[in-house]
Amino acid sequence: MKVILTGATGFIGGEVLNQALAHPKINSLICLTRKPLPDAVTSNPKVKVINLAEFSSYAPEVLSELEGAESCIW
Ligand SMILES: NC(=O)c1ccc[n+]([C@@H]2O[C@H](COP(=O)([O-])OP(=O)(O)OC[C@H]3O[C@@H](n4cnc5c(N)ncnc54)[C@H](OP(=O)(O)O)[C@@H]3O)[C@@H](O)[C@H]2O)c1
Repeated sequence: MKVILTGATGFIGGEVLNQALAHPKINSLICLTRKPLPDAVTSNPKVKVINLAEFSSYAPEVLSELEGAESCIW
């Protein structure tokens, strides 16, 4: 399952991130973030980090990365 996650740099989102990385049914995790995530996260083959300056508009190349996601945890 492909999942989109926001807030991964925060308190709640950080734990959601850990749970999603450990979940065997999640094989693709797209993290939308304003700040960098730790190397241990970005080097995980399940993870694709997309840095956005703001979350109200999405360039076509970002939308194509989000395509096929079955879930979004916002
Ligand atoms: N903590 C609790 O006990 C608790 C309980 C009930 C409900 N909640 C709710 O759960 C949510 C998360 O809480 P939290 O404690 O994890 O907060 P937090 O530690 O402050 O984390 C907030 C997260 O949201 C991101 N964010 C904030 N404003 C943003 C914006 N304008 N655009 C994009 N990303 C933005 C932050 O990104 P940056 O790192 O880039 O700033 C960070 O990743 C909040 O809505 C809070 O009200 C929390």
